[in-house]
Amino acid sequence: MSNSPPQLPRVTILSGSTGFVGRELLGRILARSSDERLVLPIRGTRDRTARERADALLERVVPDPETRRKAAERIEVVETDLGSDEGWHPEEVLARTAGASCRLIHGAASVSFDLPLELARAVNVAGTRRMLDLAEDIDARGRLEHFAYISTAFVAGERSGTAFEHELDVGQGFSNTYERTKFEAESLAQERAKALPISIYRPSIVAGHSETGETSDFKVLYWPLKVLARGLVPLIPGRADASYDIVPVDFVAESLLRLLDTRPAAGSTFHLTAARTITMDEILDISTALFGVRRPPVVSPRVFTSFVRPLLEVVLWGRPRDVVLRTGRVYYPYLIKALRFDHANAASALSGQGLSLPDTEAYVRSILSYARDTDFGRTTTR
Ligand SMILES: NC(=O)c1ccc[n+]([C@@H]2O[C@H](COP(=O)([O-])OP(=O)(O)OC[C@H]3O[C@@H](n4cnc5c(N)ncnc54)[C@H](OP(=O)(O)O)[C@@H]3O)[C@@H](O)[C@H]2O)c1
Repeated sequence: MSNSPPQLPRVTILSGSTGFVGRELLGRILARSSDERLVLPIRGTRDRTARERADALLERVVPDPETRRKAAERIEVVETDLGSDEGWHPEEVLARTAGASCRLIHGAASVSFDLPLELARAVNVAGTRRMLDLAEDIDARGRLEHFAYISTAFVAGERSGTAFEHELDVGQGFSNTYERTKFEAESLAQERAKALPISIYRPSIVAGHSETGETSDFKVLYWPLKVLARGLVPLIPGRADASYDIVPVDFVAESLLRLLDTRPAAGSTFHLTAARTITMDEILDISTALFGVRRPPVVSPRVFTSFVRPLLEVVLWGRPRDVVLRTGRVYYPYLIKALRFDHANAASALSGQGLSLPDTEAYVRSILSYARDTDFGRTTTR
C-alpha cells in the first residue's frame, strides 16, 4: 500500500480571462480536465457584473450548452480590479481555494501603448505585485503549485539584434509605457522566483489561430493592417527591413499550459515566439495583394521627421491625417524595430510534445485573409 498523502484537488487562479490570450487559456483548461476548478478575478463594468461577464465569456469559449453548464459549475468569479487596493480582494480569492493545490496564471495587464506611466504601472506592476503576494500567502499555507507570469518578448524594449530568454535587464530603453511596465513587472516576478516556484512566458506579437487565422480580437497588430486595408495609409515612416515576430494564440496558450505541466524550475523563462520573423516588406507584399490596395512608400524616419511630416501637417486632411500623424504615432517604434527572439529554451522544453509552429509566410497570409474576410471583425465568416 502506498503511504503517499492523498492528492489535493487543483484550482487554477487565472487573471485576464476576458482578454484575447486569457480566453484561449480558459477554453483549453476547461477542455483538458473535467474536475480542475477555476477562480477568475474579473472586473465588473458599468453595465455588467463580473459574474455576468464570466457567463458571456463562457458562451463564447464553450459553445455547447450542456458542456457549458458543467463548465460553469467549475468556475468561481471574484469581482476584482487588479489596479487598485479597493478593487483587490485576496481573502475572497483565498477562501475559494481552501483545501486545494493552486496554480496561478497571471495574464491580466493593460496592453495599451500610450497609457500614462502611473496608470500603466498601477495595473501592470502593482497588479502583478498583488498576484505575487497572493501566491506567497498560498505558499505559506503549503498549497502553491506554481505561478506562471505572462510577460512579453518586448521587455527587450529598444534593443536590436537577438534577445535571449536568460536576458532581461541589459540597460535597454523602452518604446512606451507598456514595454517599460511589463519589464518592471517581470523584474518583480524574477525577484520573487528566488523564493517561489515562478516561471515566465514571453509571447511576441500574438495573432489569430495557427491554421484558420481566426481571432476574437483585432487589436495590436490588426489596427495598422486595418487602416492599410482601408487605403488610409499614404506612407509609412519606417524601414522596409523592420522585422515582426507573430505567433498564433493557440500555440501560445497550449505551450504555456504544457510547460506549466512540467513544473519548470523557478525563474525559467520561455520565449513563445514564431518560427521566424517576417519583414515589413514581406507583410506589405502579402497584405497589399490580399486587400487590393496600393503599396504605400516606406520613408525613413529621419526624412519623415525633417521633411515629410511638416509637409503632411499642411496638405493631409481627414482620416489619413489622423492615421499617420496622430493615432498611428504609437506604432512608429514598431515600424523600425529589427529584433529577434531566441527561443531555444522553449523549443527544448517543448520538444517531443507534438506542438509545431506554422510556416511564417503561410500563417501571416492566413491571419490577413481572416481579417479581410471578416472585415476586421465587423462580419463573420460562419
Ligand atoms: N496580445 C499580444 O500581442 C501580447 C503579446 C505579448 C504578451 N502579451 C501579454 O499577454 C497578456 C494578455 O494580453 P491580451 O492580448 O490578452 O490583452 P487583452 O486582450 O487586453 O486582455 C487583458 C486582460 O487583462 C484584464 N485586465 C486589465 N486591467 C485589469 C484590471 N485593472 N483588473 C483586472 N483585470 C484587468 C482585462 O480585463 P477587462 O476585460 O476587464 O479589460 C483582460 O482580461 C498580457 O499580460 C500581455 O502583456 C500579449
